[in-house]
Amino acid sequence: MKTVDANQVPQIKLANGALIPAIGMGTFGNDKYTSEEVSNAVYNAIKIGYRFFDGAAAYGNESDIGKVYSRAFSDGLVKREELYILSKLWNNMHGKRDVLVAVSKTLKDLQLDYLDSYLVHWPFPNYHAPGAGVDDRHPDSRPFFIEEFMETWEQMEKLVDMGLVRHIGVSNMTVPKLKEMLPLCRIKPVFNEVEVHPAFQQWDMFEYCKSQDIVTIAYSPLGSAERPERDKESNDTIVMEMPELVKIAKDHGVHPALICIKWAVQRGHIPVPFSVRESEYFSNIAAVIEDPLTDEEMEIIRKADKNDRLIKAKVFLWPGAENWKNIWDLNGEIDRTGWQS
Ligand SMILES: NC(=O)c1ccc[n+]([C@@H]2O[C@H](COP(=O)([O-])OP(=O)(O)OC[C@H]3O[C@@H](n4cnc5c(N)ncnc54)[C@H](OP(=O)(O)O)[C@@H]3O)[C@@H](O)[C@H]2O)c1
Repeated sequence: MKTVDANQVPQIKLANGALIPAIGMGTFGNDKYTSEEVSNAVYNAIKIGYRFFDGAAAYGNESDIGKVYSRAFSDGLVKREELYILSKLWNNMHGKRDVLVAVSKTLKDLQLDYLDSYLVHWPFPNYHAPGAGVDDRHPDSRPFFIEEFMETWEQMEKLVDMGLVRHIGVSNMTVPKLKEMLPLCRIKPVFNEVEVHPAFQQWDMFEYCKSQDIVTIAYSPLGSAERPERDKESNDTIVMEMPELVKIAKDHGVHPALICIKWAVQRGHIPVPFSVRESEYFSNIAAVIEDPLTDEEMEIIRKADKNDRLIKAKVFLWPGAENWKNIWDLNGEIDRTGWQS
């Protein structure tokens, strides 16, 4: 097995001074890879040198991954404090007193007594079942309301007070939603985990988060070719086939996936690529410690941005909403199109 020295992987400093590896491993099997395949990959990834794992209760694999962490500790591969373990609160657990119940289940499944980070997975309590289809909608779905969200966030803050979670954060937030949230926080989010890749660079979001000391974690950093059907549309960009990436990849003698990863780490957001194939997840982490992109190549990629969101999340739309764009506040204010309370 080829490995990298985990100490050589660059690290990013969080607002409170803590350090986190500049690349993590995703653990969502995209409704395609089993819990066993994903957890086996996590075990090997620890051996290879990964120290940051991006998980979530909704991925349905935390108990298998917990067995793997436990085995990695007892096999002496790593110590608990050497790993950065992140999980997320699922949308059906936003209610009063639910957050502690949810994190307790995640900690039990992962066989841990604290999480390094816990994020609110989506900014509204809109549930979808595992494996949801293209047209599945939950009748109780609703847009974002700051009062409702802060009730959830205050419970997140208490998890820090209780020592169960080191850092709290958000995911799938927009700038307008963050602008409502941040002034009301007792403990500010350390991360915003959102879709970012060369076809969807989200510069406004990235710069705004940076200005607020919020680190961007990039999900689907390779363009998520294996994402569930519910998130696909016929004219979506195929990131791995973007000519600019293909050309730069050819010049470096690597797969375009690795160019996406180098671009992410050099730009300063943290990619969490997913793969269950050892050759892929090895090369993904190795890419951050060798053969960087030139400034010129970084600029070519910047100009190749297509502003093409691939994970549209229409499965979370509320009754009366027009289309997936309503989720993402595209007009610079919180969008509640069609909502009638
Ligand atoms: N917060 C959120 O709401 C949210 C949403 C989505 C995802 N996420 C997180 O982001 C992680 C990654 O996202 P993702 O799985 O959607 O997309 P991704 O990482 O962009 O793409 C994953 C796919 O890329 C391929 N791949 C990986 N490494 C490769 C390499 N070196 N060469 C060629 N192909 C490679 C694999 O294809 P094959 O399977 O064909 O090998 C894999 O299935 C998830 O696991 C999850 O942790 C979070």
